[in-house]
Amino acid sequence: PKPVLFVTRELPEAAQQRLADLGAEVEVRQHRSEAGLGRQQLLADVSGAQGIICVLDDTVDDELLRAAGQQLRVVSTVSVGYDHVDTQALQAQGVLLGHTPGVLTDATADTTVLLALMAARRAKEALERAATGGGSGFSLMRGLGTQFGGQTLGIVGLGRIGAAVVRRLQPFGFSRVLYAAPRPQTNCAVDAQHVPLDTLLESSDLVCICCPLNPQTAGLFGPQAFARMRSSAILVNTARGAVVDHDALLDALDRRLIAHAALDVTDPEPLPAGHPLLVHPRCTVLPHIGSATEQTRAAMANLAIDNALDGIFARPLKAQVDL
Ligand code: GLV
Ligand code: GLV
Repeated sequence: PKPVLFVTRELPEAAQQRLADLGAEVEVRQHRSEAGLGRQQLLADVSGAQGIICVLDDTVDDELLRAAGQQLRVVSTVSVGYDHVDTQALQAQGVLLGHTPGVLTDATADTTVLLALMAARRAKEALERAATGGGSGFSLMRGLGTQFGGQTLGIVGLGRIGAAVVRRLQPFGFSRVLYAAPRPQTNCAVDAQHVPLDTLLESSDLVCICCPLNPQTAGLFGPQAFARMRSSAILVNTARGAVVDHDALLDALDRRLIAHAALDVTDPEPLPAGHPLLVHPRCTVLPHIGSATEQTRAAMANLAIDNALDGIFARPLKAQVDL
């Protein structure tokens, strides 16, 4: 029998066509909907698969691996982040993990710049003013933002995305770029200074979170971090919501410990309707659109299919996570 590839979602059109053309090689089983499967349905449907293509809403843990069965070779997530995957469980079962680095770097860095500018120019308040119609036109004095130029930029996590953010923001005229990371980065070709996180927090006017979520970064932005930040600081998070303690963030905004937070990711995600951060004038929230361009989503799905097929047919994965 042909090996089974289970896909937990509808994929972008070009990827769907590719799946349709795979018929001779593998049996594709797919939940062809944009919404996820319920957990019980996922556990039932995944049984017998050699490969799984999933997204970051699908929790991949020991239970899911057992539901799939011993023949499972590869889990391929359509994301660069893999905090939804229990890597130890995969390692213990000898299952490979593929992800989608590189192809989403530019789109995610663009979203980071979008949020930085929205925050600096107070776009949330401006959009709300404009949306009310009459009396909301040009004002010489109202709703003034901050011009980038001369400030210090701080990047938390100088990986592919962090470096791309620096390359985009440098032309705005930041006088210094600092970064915090577990190790100095020697080969990312951006002009930035490695400093302790506390130094970065105390010195930066714009702080961009670009690190993965892991035990070292969970809750990294808590009460102590916010207490160190500048009252003029803008915090942008396009990484994972749980890097930021959201109660501490709300408190920091209310006490004006920081000027603005601009979040593409939240904890929980999505935030419940009416959550104080959603209605806060100095908090801008987007619904996790970091990599959401036609081009990038097509490339992510394509790479995820490559990774899944490589794993199923025992070839080296194009983009494999070291477990
Ligand atoms: C999106 O958040 C990703 O990890 O690709
Ligand atoms: C992180 O995943 C990065 O690509 O920088």
